[in-house]
Amino acid sequence: MSSSYKGADLVAIRDFSRDQIEHIMDLAEKMVPIALGQERSDLLAGYVQSSLFFEPSTRTRLSFASAMARLGGATLGFDQPGGSSVQKGETLADTIKMVDSYSDVIVLRHHSEGSARLAAYFAEKPVINAGDGAGQHPTQTILDLFTIRKAKGKIDGVNVALVGDLKYGRTAHSLAEALALFGAELMFVAPANLQMPKETIRAVDKLGGKPKTMTSIEQAVPEADVLYITRIQKERFPDLAEYQKVAGSYKINNALLKDAKTELSIMHPLPRVDEIHPDVDLSPHALYFQQAFNGVPVRMAILALLLGVIE
Ligand code: NCD
Repeated sequence: MSSSYKGADLVAIRDFSRDQIEHIMDLAEKMVPIALGQERSDLLAGYVQSSLFFEPSTRTRLSFASAMARLGGATLGFDQPGGSSVQKGETLADTIKMVDSYSDVIVLRHHSEGSARLAAYFAEKPVINAGDGAGQHPTQTILDLFTIRKAKGKIDGVNVALVGDLKYGRTAHSLAEALALFGAELMFVAPANLQMPKETIRAVDKLGGKPKTMTSIEQAVPEADVLYITRIQKERFPDLAEYQKVAGSYKINNALLKDAKTELSIMHPLPRVDEIHPDVDLSPHALYFQQAFNGVPVRMAILALLLGVIE
């Protein structure tokens, strides 16, 4: 199995098979005590990760850094391209060629869709897509699947409503494909002009997913086992007036949840703006902070596999 991960890039969720994703989740499970700081590890001692963030990030960047540090490795990079030579006009290709020689793995977040694929072309070392514009966010997807599997004991047959900005939300794109691959039932809940892009719909169809699409969150709540709500991606709207029309479309509060299943889990890749009322944080439905923690063990597993130190 090792040869199929070692040196591989993770640009889109479809780069890995269902078996490979399951193996990552199994390994992530074993990493939890290290992620919690209960056990020490030097599995990645001497390894260096480049962390290139051209767009804002809290969870993704810090959980990659935490994963690397907890396994004894080091991280270099930037979270503000303004402090790098990009400011002087350096191309992404040149930046990538440079850091390729400084490190063993490259984690890239960039505002252009396709940037991670481009980076993978120029880099010898594995490239991990930490979000490419409105494209994909495959490591978030694996931690989302891990979170669902832990909470529900399975993914097959679990009814997941993806809610919010399905057009520009990269987490929703890669997660929809992955959920179809794992046989989950899907509901796509979005304002009509923010529904899932055709490309994602086609990929989901090909995998046998038969999503129900709707605009009303009230309709989705009673059926859902998981409500996965996302932020309206303000920064991706070409016209602010268009954003203002849909801002605040969906808000989860305790009143909305009165018809929910007892076992309903609420997930959010975070950051939230106003999609989830803070009162919901105390309810047994809230899974989003646990979900955010799960980024650490999942990214540990991904780093260890791509670096080939584990099979
Ligand atoms: C998401 C992202 O950057 O795509 N955040 C994350 O990585 N957890 C979601 C978002 O910004 O809305």
